[in-house]
Amino acid sequence: MPRTMIVTSALPYANGSIHLGHMVEHIQTDIWVRHQRMNGHTVHYLCADDTHGTPVMLAANQLGISPEQMIEKARQEHMKDFTGFLIDHDLYYSTHTPETEAFAKDIYLTLKQAGLIDVKPIEQLFDPEKEMFLPDRFIKGECPRCHAKDQYGDNCEVCGASYSPTELIQPVSAISGATPIKKTSEHYFFKLKECESFLRQWTRSGTIPEEAANKLEEWFKSGLTDWDISRDKPYFGFEIPDAPGKYFYVWLDAPIGYIGTFKKFADTKGLPFWDYWKADSTTELYHFIGKDILYFHSLFWPAMLYAANLRTPTRLFVHGFLTVNGQKMSKSRGSFITAQSYLKHLNPESLRYYFAAKMNSSMDDIDLNLDDFTNRVNSDLVGKFINIASRTSGFITKRFNGKLATGFDELALPIIDRFYTEALTIKTLFEEREFAKAIREIMALADLANQYIDQQKPWELAKDQKHLNLLHQVCTSCLEMFRCLSIYLKPVLPKLTQQVETFLKLSPLMWKHLDKKYAINACDILPYHHLISRIETKQIEELQSESKSSLIDKTNQDHHFPPLSETIGIDDFSKIDLRVAKIIDAVTIPEADKLLKLTLDLGFEQRTVFAGIKSQYQSEQLVGRLTVMVANLSPRKMRFGESQGMVLAAGDGNTIYLLSPDSGAKPGMKIK
Ligand code: MSP
Ligand code: ZN
Repeated sequence: MPRTMIVTSALPYANGSIHLGHMVEHIQTDIWVRHQRMNGHTVHYLCADDTHGTPVMLAANQLGISPEQMIEKARQEHMKDFTGFLIDHDLYYSTHTPETEAFAKDIYLTLKQAGLIDVKPIEQLFDPEKEMFLPDRFIKGECPRCHAKDQYGDNCEVCGASYSPTELIQPVSAISGATPIKKTSEHYFFKLKECESFLRQWTRSGTIPEEAANKLEEWFKSGLTDWDISRDKPYFGFEIPDAPGKYFYVWLDAPIGYIGTFKKFADTKGLPFWDYWKADSTTELYHFIGKDILYFHSLFWPAMLYAANLRTPTRLFVHGFLTVNGQKMSKSRGSFITAQSYLKHLNPESLRYYFAAKMNSSMDDIDLNLDDFTNRVNSDLVGKFINIASRTSGFITKRFNGKLATGFDELALPIIDRFYTEALTIKTLFEEREFAKAIREIMALADLANQYIDQQKPWELAKDQKHLNLLHQVCTSCLEMFRCLSIYLKPVLPKLTQQVETFLKLSPLMWKHLDKKYAINACDILPYHHLISRIETKQIEELQSESKSSLIDKTNQDHHFPPLSETIGIDDFSKIDLRVAKIIDAVTIPEADKLLKLTLDLGFEQRTVFAGIKSQYQSEQLVGRLTVMVANLSPRKMRFGESQGMVLAAGDGNTIYLLSPDSGAKPGMKIK
């Protein structure tokens, strides 16, 4: 029975670049979608940018453009990245659209009528200069537990404590630098608790993976609390009906973006919208998401849909996080790889293949090990798969005028038969998102094909005119195996297999073509053209060094630039006496998490300076190195001694970089 389904990947934030972590999700979704289409099912694969919220608003302010301009630019970039990776979205839309706005308001009003909305006063930190409430990430201050300075409003990166922003010591607004004040305002809440019995039943009805259902069980145990769905102006988002100055929190309208995006798509294609979204719809709805957003998708989202009398998701497919070389993606290690930089150096299908070879249906993290990636792609795709065609098709072209034999080699028959009979197993593995297992089976078949070639040695047969017939059959058999492998790999390698379709003159390959009815006997083929290249170590090195140097990620969500300070004259500047200094000693202070005690040589005297650079530098690394210091800063008493000046370093709160003059500079030189 042909099925009809909507499939989504989570909507990426508009204020960040697409990176390989996002690609884990989109590649997984795309493979599954293509698999469904090869089965003849109707799939509407939708995605959009998630555009609302304070970070987008502030980022646009800083760039001096409107949020609308910013999100449109991001959308264009994101679409380019996804197309680059051959992700076949039917529509890549946005949440800042009339469709999503209308549904957000409708759903909210339905919830309100059902008595599921509450209004309560909330006290929060408020920036008196910018006149806005500050989200946690935009407040910094001293950790109430370990007293580390410059920590974010929700948790301390030094000691790991989590707290509420109102507990920070000496909080400052990261936007204006002003001291925030406490201020109360009314917030709107969705009474999640009232949907608890529905949610308990929904989560245990096979809609979410077992391991996720267990996680939910913990949330039920600790008690479902009301969900704050409003934010005060200024906020980039949709205004709440009958609540002037109040906006929907971005996570309210983000999933509604799935509906809004489908609405736009349905209108363009003339599809019956309500057939898909009415409570008793017979169509299917699948969301692919990362484990970090399970809470939103398994509680708020189904509860909202249920309470609004709309259909709920058929299933949530939850994946783990991408690590690179075994570690969390990190900008300073050069492993924070954007889609764009990957595409500059490497083939998208290599990554599609590698991810597929590692993916399963669990929530485990998946690792991109760059050496393993190179080996795997080179040995499987080039060495095993493409090799079958490149080793045999030349004979067909040169010796047989591009025409395949009418029959197969006797010896190949049982092997070819295996290629057909494996179909059920492999298709099932794709259906179950057990891609790694599917790839293992497929490569086992490729091994059989290569063993067969090694056994029959077509290059030997070609030497003797009397083996011509056998040569013809052997090469034809190999190309039939190659055709089957191409079908198996089509969800993963859509472009490569399209080239195979052209080369073997086949109509678009579908699962049903894994049958001897469709065997390629007696067909014409085109001469073989090079289909894929090996990955060279140089490409990987270039990618890594580019990822290291492109640390300046203008729009990344966890990075924002502090605003420029007020303009000063040259007189103000020349008050600061900056000198080249040589670090002649550096010792760690065990009681201080961030501090190193430096002894600096200024040529004419020595100074002791405490510098907060311990997170980034080891003391041994620093001794002998030149840096720049403020030499006329009044000395400051600290817990560990007197600090007689300050060294200059650049930082964003996460990483810090000590400044150094070019070589040749001498201690004591004045910086002008
Ligand atoms: N905007 C929200 C989703 C709203 S859906 C209604 C969001 N955006 S995101 O850009 O941060 O992430 C989008 C998706 O990418 C999420 O499913 C997230 O789990 C996934 N990933 C983001 N970084 C990832 C990795 N490093 N690894 C794997 N998936 C990752 O969350
Ligand atoms: Zn702390």
